[in-house]
Amino acid sequence: MGIASLVPLLFAYTAQHTNTLEVTGVRNLNCGAGDNQVTNGYVHLQNGNLFFSLFEGKDEAKNNGLVVQFEGGPGASAFDYPFIGAGPCQLTPDEEPSLSGLTPAPYPWTDHANLLVVDFPIGAGWSYNISDQFPGSTSDFAAEEFDDFLQVILKQWPQFQRQPLILSTLSYGGTTGSHIASTVLERNNAVRDQWWNSRVIKQFDQILFGNPYADAMSEIYSQWDVMCNTEPKGYNETICSHFRDDLTECLDKLRYIDEVENTKDLRLSAVESCVKSIEIRFEAPLYNRYNKKERKCYPTNLCFWWMGKLTELMNSPEMREWLGVTHHVERWWYAGPAMIRFAKNADHMQSAYKLLTPVLEAGTRLLAYSGLEDTMVPYIGTFSWMNRLPNSNLRAFRASEAQQVSNDLFKGTVIKPGSDFTLIGVRDAGHLVEQTHAALMQEMVRQAVQGKNYNPLLVIPNTTGNDD
Ligand SMILES: *[C@@H]1O[C@H](CO)[C@@H](O)[C@H](O)[C@H]1NC(C)=O
Ligand SMILES: *[C@@H]1O[C@H](CO)[C@@H](O)[C@H](O)[C@H]1NC(C)=O
Ligand SMILES: *[C@@H]1O[C@H](CO)[C@@H](O)[C@H](O)[C@H]1NC(C)=O
Repeated sequence: MGIASLVPLLFAYTAQHTNTLEVTGVRNLNCGAGDNQVTNGYVHLQNGNLFFSLFEGKDEAKNNGLVVQFEGGPGASAFDYPFIGAGPCQLTPDEEPSLSGLTPAPYPWTDHANLLVVDFPIGAGWSYNISDQFPGSTSDFAAEEFDDFLQVILKQWPQFQRQPLILSTLSYGGTTGSHIASTVLERNNAVRDQWWNSRVIKQFDQILFGNPYADAMSEIYSQWDVMCNTEPKGYNETICSHFRDDLTECLDKLRYIDEVENTKDLRLSAVESCVKSIEIRFEAPLYNRYNKKERKCYPTNLCFWWMGKLTELMNSPEMREWLGVTHHVERWWYAGPAMIRFAKNADHMQSAYKLLTPVLEAGTRLLAYSGLEDTMVPYIGTFSWMNRLPNSNLRAFRASEAQQVSNDLFKGTVIKPGSDFTLIGVRDAGHLVEQTHAALMQEMVRQAVQGKNYNPLLVIPNTTGNDD
């Protein structure tokens, strides 16, 4: 007894005073189809301040579950999905980008669950740090910040401790999300037998990954394959052969990082062989890389119809006031300072998917969905790592043929439907499935909070518009 036994208590005390929640606004959002409550705020952490908006589920959906949504990038703002269909009100091509110009989303997730969007990591969107705060610049440290954030949320809204918890993200979220799920599990396991710990032990019930970047190696060769080896080709011969010349060296460096040692210098050296210039990645492609059925777009903010409108909406004085965001963030960027920090640390030169093995073993389901027209994070790369990720479903996954499915809600392919480890490929969708397939995404969320991976083989009767 003595000092040593007081130390944990002291830590718990300090942590409680650092990890505080500040509500910056409780709002009613009504764009013509009823009221929706939204709570905006910051969770203040030692390393910085994470901004969130909690879109409460409509009526009974409040009790169904919590979907935590953040974006990829790393460092992209989470405020795209809630305003392109996942939230109750959305941007429309013909309307003003203002609160009064929003229109009811036809398939909002909030009809079935609570939606918590968080600008993660620190430095994305409205999240920020001040000069003496040093936020994590790699996904392992950032995952600890996310876990601290989630603890504060679960304590503030204890009902979410008892409801299903879904982690939903896309693109680079495949890497940051794998770290998060594994960190939450590790921290839960570390305190399971400690009577004095104030931690809320809560595991993700499901991970919902959209076009996830979770394995650098798979991405590098699958990008070459879809851009240079599949019609229509995304690059001309000159660029494809230049790309091919570096492939062996790049993959050798990535394997060394993955199998032997992982340091910042080694990752930066891998970037030199593996990552092409911005011009090659985004200007040279002959089509829209985020959806190869669409025409060429450059700079990339022109690749999404809603990007300019969302930027205008977020930066309007009206929206800043509505969200209650701090003056510390002068301007909202779709991809903010966090992106630069992570790039400087070459965080993307890693194979984070491997972290999911214990998470799946602990009972979390994984549903990965992939727009088949995306060339940023191609379907075949996701298939590749899912096809070798050790877990109890792997053998069955490998033995299952990709089935073609076509019904009113879904057209595409599915591997191992109805299991806890499923991959679906969505025809005619690109990098952001929500943008074009809101009804499908809503169904994935509805099933997720009911304890299931969405199964495209089970046709769901369409009840929308029949409630007259
Ligand atoms: C936030 O932290 C980073 C270091 O990680 C630092 O470079 C940056 O200046 C900080 N931002 C502000 C606004 O102080
Ligand atoms: C290939 O594309 C690059 C980038 O757009 C361009 O600079 C180059 O001239 C093209 N080469 C050929 C042979 O068309
Ligand atoms: C469901 O039915 C409504 C009304 O008939 C229709 O507008 C909507 O497109 C249908 N949704 C799906 C996913 O088929």
